[in-house]
Amino acid sequence: MMNAIKICVFTILVAAFYSYVSQMVPQTVTYPPEDTELGADMTTEDLVAAGEEIASGKGTCLTCHTTSGETGGRFPDLANIGLVAAERKEGFSDVEYLAESLYEPNEYIVEGFLPGMTPISDPPIDLNDQEILAVIAYLQSLGGAATVTLDTELRWQSEENAAGASTASQASASAAPSSENLSGEELFTMYACGVCHSLTDPTPLLGPSLYDVGNNLSTAEIYEAIMDPDAVLNEAYPAGLMTAQLNAVGFYDKISSGQLKTLVDYLASQKGGS
Ligand code: HEC
Ligand code: HEC
Repeated sequence: MMNAIKICVFTILVAAFYSYVSQMVPQTVTYPPEDTELGADMTTEDLVAAGEEIASGKGTCLTCHTTSGETGGRFPDLANIGLVAAERKEGFSDVEYLAESLYEPNEYIVEGFLPGMTPISDPPIDLNDQEILAVIAYLQSLGGAATVTLDTELRWQSEENAAGASTASQASASAAPSSENLSGEELFTMYACGVCHSLTDPTPLLGPSLYDVGNNLSTAEIYEAIMDPDAVLNEAYPAGLMTAQLNAVGFYDKISSGQLKTLVDYLASQKGGS
């Protein structure tokens, strides 16, 4: 009897020690380069496991989200998402809500949070429809039960994928600017900079307010902040967010050097309304 208690106490101490150590070690997130294998004969259980692997790997979901039930963070905790998904949006089933939050995250912003999630069907994350179904199965399993299979059809899926092809990442050239004559303001709107930056008041959104950026940064610094957002990091903001979002909308591929100059000059002229 005494022995059993001793073993029990010892086990608790060891567990506590490891969880202490794991807090001390800087958490690095690694992205496995190889794709998770998905096959037609997978059971729902297999699909959930594959979805979990994608969410913590290629999908980068767990760089932003937690699944431990903690609240008060910058990103919604997903511990009970399988349960609450059905209640989020009127007329949407849980599967439809989850699909929309992945394909078009900015269509519905969870109360108490700011926009900032990139559509994960686009580069750089670029999950294909099958991978997204696996992620949905995993999300359903958090607090609920998975129902989707690889045959589930969703209206957000691309036709190519529905026809059995793999990724269809080239299909996103819609915002390509046709003319050089766009104003700085139009470029700012076109690339959705305003999702993260206010030009009308000093309140930060997901990124710092740019309403008086012309007083704070030189033209060169503004240029650098756009071309290489992670070169000079502002500690108050998450690193990599702006780069990820601008890559997702194809900003760096599409913008011409002339347009870039127009945009930088426009920002340099923002001096807090003075
Ligand atoms: C760059 C950070 C970021 C990444 C990466 C990210 N998300 Fe999000 N996610 C957010 C933010 C911010 C919100 C809240 C705003 C909104 O509703 O769009 C959100 C909302 C959600 C919601 C809605 C939650 C609710 O309570 O209704 C789901 C589901 C979700 N994300 C799943 C995922 C999955 C799955 C992935 C990976 C494939 C992922 N997210 C990747 C930032 C992120
Ligand atoms: C997804 C959110 C997001 C989007 C979209 C975004 N940014 Fe940012 N931006 C940030 C964050 C976060 C920072 C601060 C961290 C850093 O320095 O990278 C930042 C920093 C900046 C800075 C430096 C400001 C300062 O005071 O240091 C400039 C200038 C800027 N962004 C311009 C832009 C422009 C122009 C666009 C559109 C083409 C844009 N951003 C799109 C999030 C975003």
